[in-house]
Amino acid sequence: MKVYITREIPEEGLTIAQTAAEIEVWPGELPPTREQLAERVRDVDGLLCLLTDAIDGWLLDQAPKLRVVSQLAVGYDNIDVAACTARGIKVGNTPGVLTETTADLAFALLLAAARRLPEGDRVVRNGGWHTWSPLFLAGRDVHHAVLGIIGMGRIGYEVARRASGFQMQVLYADAQPNAQAERDFGARLVTMDALLENSDFVTLHTPLLPATTHLIGERELALMKPTAVLVNTSRGPVVDQRALYKALVEGTIAAAGLDVFEHEPLSANDPLTQLDNVVLLPHIGSASIATRTRMAVIAAENLVAGLRGEPLPCPVN
Ligand code: GLV
Repeated sequence: MKVYITREIPEEGLTIAQTAAEIEVWPGELPPTREQLAERVRDVDGLLCLLTDAIDGWLLDQAPKLRVVSQLAVGYDNIDVAACTARGIKVGNTPGVLTETTADLAFALLLAAARRLPEGDRVVRNGGWHTWSPLFLAGRDVHHAVLGIIGMGRIGYEVARRASGFQMQVLYADAQPNAQAERDFGARLVTMDALLENSDFVTLHTPLLPATTHLIGERELALMKPTAVLVNTSRGPVVDQRALYKALVEGTIAAAGLDVFEHEPLSANDPLTQLDNVVLLPHIGSASIATRTRMAVIAAENLVAGLRGEPLPCPVN
C-alpha cells in the first residue's frame, strides 16, 4: 500500500506509518499546491495531511484508491468530511494529546497581552528603558479577574483549570453545559452576550464551523469592556479580523492575543502588526516537541488502522 505525507513529521510517526505502507513525504518547507498534491495522491491508499492542505471533493476525485485521510491536528476544517464519507474514506484527527499544551499557550497569550510582555521586550531591545517609573508599561491584573471561555470543551476546561490557579472567576458559553467545569472550577454557564459584557478576558475554544465563523464581530466586540482582552487560539475566522483591528485601534477593547488568523501566514505588512496592543503568534498552540511527537504517533496510528480496514483510534466520521 502507498501513503502520501504532506510534510516532514516527527520520526516516531514515520516509523509507525512504515509498518503498513510505502511512504512518500513532501520535502518542501511550504505546503504542496493543490495541483502538486493532486499529482501525488493519484495512486495512494492513505493520506496524512496538515491543516494547511485543502482536502475537498476535487482532490478526493484525483485519488480513486484513497481509503483514509489522517489529519495531524485536532481541528479539521480544511477537510470536507462529508465528501470523504460519501466516498467511503475514513477521516481521523489528533484530539486529547494537545489539550494541555494548547491551554498553556492560550494562558501564555492571555498573560503576555495583559502584562504587555512583548512590548516590554521590544522596549529593552530598542534602548527605550531609561528608568523605573510608576506607570511604565503598566498592564492589567490577571489574578482575580473574570475570564470568559467560549467553548468549554477539552481545551476550554484546561484553560479554566489554569485560571483557577490565578483565582479567576470563570464564565463560559457553550451549547452544552459542562458539569465538570462547574464542579471543579466553579465555572458559570451564561449567554454569549453576558459573557462578553462581564469578562475581563475572553478566550475562544470553539471549532471552526459555519455557526462559529465571525462569532466575534463588531457587535460582540462592542459588548466587551473597553479594558477587556481577547485571546484566540482556535481558528482565525472565528473572529472578524477587520472588526478586531478597528476595535483595537479605537479602544473598543484594550488588547488581544492571537495565535490564529483569517489568512495564514499573516503578512508582515498586515495592519495588525503596527499595533502595540496585540500579541501575534504564528499558530503554535500545540507546538511543544513532546506534543507534536504524540500527534504524529496518533496520526500515523489512524492512518495504519484506516489502511487495514480497522476502526481508527481517533475517528472523525
Ligand atoms: C491546530 O491548530 C490543531 O487544530 O491541532
